[in-house]
Amino acid sequence: MSESRSNYESCLSDCGRSIPGLGIERPELVDYSKQNTTVDQTRIETELERLELFGASLLHVGVGNSQLAKRFSPYVGHITGITVSDAEKQHADSLGLPNYEVHLLNKYSANLGTLPHRYHFILDNNLAGFACCQKHFGWMMKNYVKLLATQGQIFTDQRGMDWVVGDPRWKLTFEDLVRLEQKYPLKAVRRTNFVYALRRVS
Ligand SMILES: C[S@@+](CC[C@H](N)C(=O)[O-])C[C@H]1O[C@@H](n2cnc3c(N)ncnc32)[C@H](O)[C@@H]1O
Repeated sequence: MSESRSNYESCLSDCGRSIPGLGIERPELVDYSKQNTTVDQTRIETELERLELFGASLLHVGVGNSQLAKRFSPYVGHITGITVSDAEKQHADSLGLPNYEVHLLNKYSANLGTLPHRYHFILDNNLAGFACCQKHFGWMMKNYVKLLATQGQIFTDQRGMDWVVGDPRWKLTFEDLVRLEQKYPLKAVRRTNFVYALRRVS
């Protein structure tokens, strides 16, 4: 059985910052509008493609080059994207996809919960990669649960969970996702060796 405490639970508890999250001011970390899709996000998209998506509502956290929206918008009901990069938002808007809407919104902020939809899938390949402290990571998780439709799922990937801007204790493992079940109504599932889901169970 896994240890009862995750490494990240010994990270800073409250950063005290009014703008949470690390790296926001560093375009090389947060502007992927002209970069290729990462390996981890590509794997998440491959998993998504296996599913029945007709009419589904997707929340893409960290839209990057918006290839995910281009690929899936013909098959789903709606895609909301969020980013902290003006360039990524401008690129997303320029695509003119009718069912794709991108917001400049910080996922570690309380405002995340104000998004107007409930989502069948939340896609976030860097859950804690930009995390500043446990308080703001907790806000994000609480809001993700709130934003999930019944039986909705968060998809993430081990490579993205291994990538951190700050404290290396934010690197997450599948066991850390299992331990999140103690705090949130979520069930962790391995979909492949790398892609994991957190399914809302109530
Ligand atoms: C390394 S890029 C990855 C882009 C894309 N998901 C991919 O894998 O190809 C990180 C993404 O996360 C977004 N991001 C970083 N910090 C964020 C935060 N606090 N709230 C919302 N999005 C954030 C960036 O704007 C960017 O879209």
